[in-house]
Amino acid sequence: MDSMISPFVLIIFGATGDLTNVKLMPSLFNLFKQGILPQEFFIFGFSRREIGESEFHDLFATYKDDPLWLDFTKHLHYQSGKFEEEKGYLELIGELTKIDEQMGACVTRLFYLATPPDNYEMILDMLNKTKLADGCGQGSNKWTKIVIEKPFGHDLDTAIHLDQKLGEIFEERQIFRVDHYLGKENVQNMIAFRFANSIFDPVWNSQYVDHVQITFSEAEGVKGRGKFFDGVGILRDVGQNHLMQLVAAVAMDQPRSFTKEDVRDARVAAIQSIECIQQEMVAKDVIRGQYASYRDEKNVDPSSQTETYVAMKFMINNKRFANTPFYIRMGKKMPKEVMEISIVFRQTCHLLFKEYGCPEIGNVLTIRIQPDEGISMRFIAKKPGNKLALEPVEMKFSYKESFGSKGTDAYERILLDILHGDQMLFNRTDELRSSWKFITNILNGWQVFDPPLYIYEDGSNGPKEAYELIEKDGKHWL
Ligand code: BG6
Repeated sequence: MDSMISPFVLIIFGATGDLTNVKLMPSLFNLFKQGILPQEFFIFGFSRREIGESEFHDLFATYKDDPLWLDFTKHLHYQSGKFEEEKGYLELIGELTKIDEQMGACVTRLFYLATPPDNYEMILDMLNKTKLADGCGQGSNKWTKIVIEKPFGHDLDTAIHLDQKLGEIFEERQIFRVDHYLGKENVQNMIAFRFANSIFDPVWNSQYVDHVQITFSEAEGVKGRGKFFDGVGILRDVGQNHLMQLVAAVAMDQPRSFTKEDVRDARVAAIQSIECIQQEMVAKDVIRGQYASYRDEKNVDPSSQTETYVAMKFMINNKRFANTPFYIRMGKKMPKEVMEISIVFRQTCHLLFKEYGCPEIGNVLTIRIQPDEGISMRFIAKKPGNKLALEPVEMKFSYKESFGSKGTDAYERILLDILHGDQMLFNRTDELRSSWKFITNILNGWQVFDPPLYIYEDGSNGPKEAYELIEKDGKHWL
């Protein structure tokens, strides 16, 4: 057992929901199986559904044949309660007090908000009102932490409002704002790759980098989450968080030190340096689309105007990247799943080899976030033979080949960090506000100018207008 993690109580609000089922419980069970969790830990599911403990366990029936599942369920408890009524919270306090008594100490309480976001404020109010947020009875916040999932707010104003409420109840050191992309192995690796090696940083700037492309492409549609997604859209769902973090990983400067605050300072500075797209430019520089079968999805409005695809161009206002445009695209129902960052370097081939036929694209460094986590470098080589002919080739690093595994799952990593109290991979309040500022500006532009929503075929690469966006600058999506 990892002695570094103290006994804890994790209370999951929204315990019968999709996130708990697909991400949280599998990750917790996996950590348990690896022997990383302490001997004493208690997980309480809190939801409206009136079910007993064994029915709660049955929700995770896929694991029931695993020899360790039964042991794990001894740590799994359930409290039913309506989020807006005190009753469930008070009953929970009773249960948690018993645990403190049994343990002879105040056991750290972690509140994980994994509900639809419209419930966040209500739950926070109730945590405050019932004093559950205070922890073990001494009126001190010392023994509690709050974990809050994205989407955090609906725009800048609502995000600030929610953040203020959080701040009234908890101190910043207790708050864990989740963006699980920060827990992805190759996103974390960006800092090591860029700053532990001496060869990349000197060319990581506008003098050498022609442009940056980021692609977030999912083969799946809304996967039964139509009700949630239709009120949100892809720009809020992944653009405001996951994509902004990928941009930050590319654009940030070297942190002063590898500590929580310095790394977060560097990330915030990068996000703050993203130039807001002027509202009147939004129609030109931001393309939105919707996959053809989207309106037939369950719980989606048949006349929905919600975007399932966005491509955009923007500039970064820092010394490093002032003259390097960033093109990012995100979409559902694409031909395949690919999340990757490509750094496209300026071409120099033609200086010496113009008449020998330089490939259109020369050096590209690609950081594959998933699947097949790794990094590849494309460069130009002389083709074997008696005459000079040039062709692009690739050098590859694969996590699986080099390390035998693709690394820790993102949710396992973030849960571990919460248990350790390490906030480096979580959004700080200023970080969240900066990314919302950029995104809200686009949302407002859409509101005012109402640019077209292009319909694209399911399984296609998105609307042709997204190609025109980059091609008019003489560049191409890779
Ligand atoms: C979530 C979004 O945050 O991230 C989903 O709500 C998206 O719409 C998902 O599919 C992608 O995460 P991952 O880890 O599966 O790449």
